[in-house]
Amino acid sequence: MLHNPIKLRKLLKDRIIKTGPVTFREFMKESLYNQDFGYYSQIDFPGGKHGDFVTAPHASLFFGSLLSVQISEFFEKLDNKECNICEFGAGAGYLAQDIMRYFRKHEPKLFQKLKYFVVEPLKKRRKVLQDRLSEFKDHFEIIEKFSECGRFSGVIVANELLDAFPVHLVEKKGGKFKEVYIGLDREERFLEILRKPSTSELAGYLDQLNDLLPDGYRTEVNLDIKDWIMEISGAMVEGFVLTIDYGFSSREYFAPHRNRGTLLGYSGQRTTEDFFSFPGMVDITAHVNFSDLLRWGEEQGMKCMGFTPQWAFLGGLDPDETMQKVFGKVDPFSPILAGIKALIFPQAMGETHKAMVLSKGLDNIGPLKGFNIRDYKETLK
Ligand SMILES: C[S@@+](CC[C@H](N)C(=O)[O-])C[C@H]1O[C@@H](n2cnc3c(N)ncnc32)[C@H](O)[C@@H]1O
Repeated sequence: MLHNPIKLRKLLKDRIIKTGPVTFREFMKESLYNQDFGYYSQIDFPGGKHGDFVTAPHASLFFGSLLSVQISEFFEKLDNKECNICEFGAGAGYLAQDIMRYFRKHEPKLFQKLKYFVVEPLKKRRKVLQDRLSEFKDHFEIIEKFSECGRFSGVIVANELLDAFPVHLVEKKGGKFKEVYIGLDREERFLEILRKPSTSELAGYLDQLNDLLPDGYRTEVNLDIKDWIMEISGAMVEGFVLTIDYGFSSREYFAPHRNRGTLLGYSGQRTTEDFFSFPGMVDITAHVNFSDLLRWGEEQGMKCMGFTPQWAFLGGLDPDETMQKVFGKVDPFSPILAGIKALIFPQAMGETHKAMVLSKGLDNIGPLKGFNIRDYKETLK
């Protein structure tokens, strides 16, 4: 792995010395997305069995196969006119690979029309993705920004993207929420400082929380989700947005016991709350507040088609038939099953991860397969 925490630490320190303390959000953004030394700029993707965390596509290709079943239904509801998929934050590219392989083998007619865009802001990641997906020559395009798609009709896919957006870290003190900034102590070690919110938008968000939560409560606010869904909605003519991530409703997010928030670092398959010693070496994530995503989506004229835990979502997508198609007969002791269990067992990703689908520009499209078993969207209000 290519780690350079010393250079990134120096860069962050120099910036603080020059312009004063930075918001935690800025610190997190540099730690994860600095083009040269950020966590996600490492050539070897830090996810996967031997990395710092395991995401669903790394656990099993069955994840991409089942999502393909849902995507086929999306295409059907779009009259199979254009078969466009745009995946944000494709990481190592396994999900894109598994989806395109599924369509090539099991939906050849749709595959002929399939165009798979991958949005990835980091240069080094784009190179890795280009290599991984080269077998699909004319079917994929790797872009830096969604705006390169122009007006878009089709399906947006984002797996474990929103939890990796940089968040504002906030804490209530003296009856009012303040924002966490990062400065330096006299030994030039990073140090947290509470200040008033850095933007009026954040202040507006926090005004709603001031009366609900007690002094000392610490949490995160992910306003990048709002920009993300606004950008998609602004360009989307008709289509669906499928997001899968760990998170919950506002009610759960701001539950009294969650008074230290959900911010967590991952390094070497272990969790850590030390984000400062080795910037660029630790993955930093925060759970997703799906009530916010729903509200901001609806403000843009989108409709929520469903919200459910990952086990129920995948369970609605013809798992037996798909398993037969993709793997044939599976031996009960096959390692294939271990990967599939990681996707659905509650101790793994089955319960922590939730799927949400928003739609735009479509009326009377009826229920979706993924929400056949359970739909908890009402809990998000
Ligand atoms: C946690 S990883 C995603 C994991 C991957 N989807 C998977 O399932 O294995 C986050 C990825 O999102 C990318 N990313 C972050 N912000 C983004 C944005 N605004 N648009 C697109 N990709 C983004 C990062 O560079 C990184 O590759």
